[in-house]
Amino acid sequence: MRKKIIAANWKMNMSASQAEFLLAALVPKISNTSAECLILPPFTSLYAVKKLLAGTGIALGAQNMHYMDNGPFTGEISPLMLKEAGVEYVLLGHSERRALGESGEMINLKVKSAVNHGIKPIICLGEPQEVRESGTELEFISNQLDEELGGICLCSEMLIAYEPIWATGTGCPADSADAQRCASFIRSYLAMKDSQCAQEIRILYGGSINSSNIASFLSQSDIDGALVGGASLNESFERIARYDEEF
Ligand code: PGA
Repeated sequence: MRKKIIAANWKMNMSASQAEFLLAALVPKISNTSAECLILPPFTSLYAVKKLLAGTGIALGAQNMHYMDNGPFTGEISPLMLKEAGVEYVLLGHSERRALGESGEMINLKVKSAVNHGIKPIICLGEPQEVRESGTELEFISNQLDEELGGICLCSEMLIAYEPIWATGTGCPADSADAQRCASFIRSYLAMKDSQCAQEIRILYGGSINSSNIASFLSQSDIDGALVGGASLNESFERIARYDEEF
């Protein structure tokens, strides 16, 4: 049985003081949900958020990392630094990072490094609008998986986030049945590498998730969680985290 996970990707929002303000209100409301909750703050807010999450059962993650442990990489953050900050998860290969020039090869190195350091990678993928229009999204997803997972042994603690680019930050979510079709395709791809792990790896959907549509995504058999951007930045995130309760 895969435990559902709901991740708040704050992106480049929430300074340490803003994070403290939001979490003071939010943490009591989301610390005993049936799904695992995960907060992904910007780097400079990690320590403040870690303090506020201590003992709550809510997990901490980072939005990116370099694959090297240290060295002349101005502006980068290493897996060792994330470990010391108490990070359990790291988002890798988000489309907004790929748009800044991150290649599949780099993401592959990052996934390897995260696994080596015991940080759980949330490996992102998803097709742009023009690929969707041409009907070749499954081929595109498969190529991204080839790149990201090349030379990597699967482990059950990895997560995959399917985030179609046309649905991310646009207010136009995918259809939940269609997201299920892609998630199921991803699981069958994983099963070709390792059938046991494929059953255990959690696959998330991301892209314009809100409190009204979350339940329809999480009711799909291969969607085990959600990666939430815009709707994670205020107290209404409680409704998403408690998607299976009545309000
Ligand atoms: P969104 O972002 O919920 O604002 O669409 C999701 C993401 O980019 O992870």
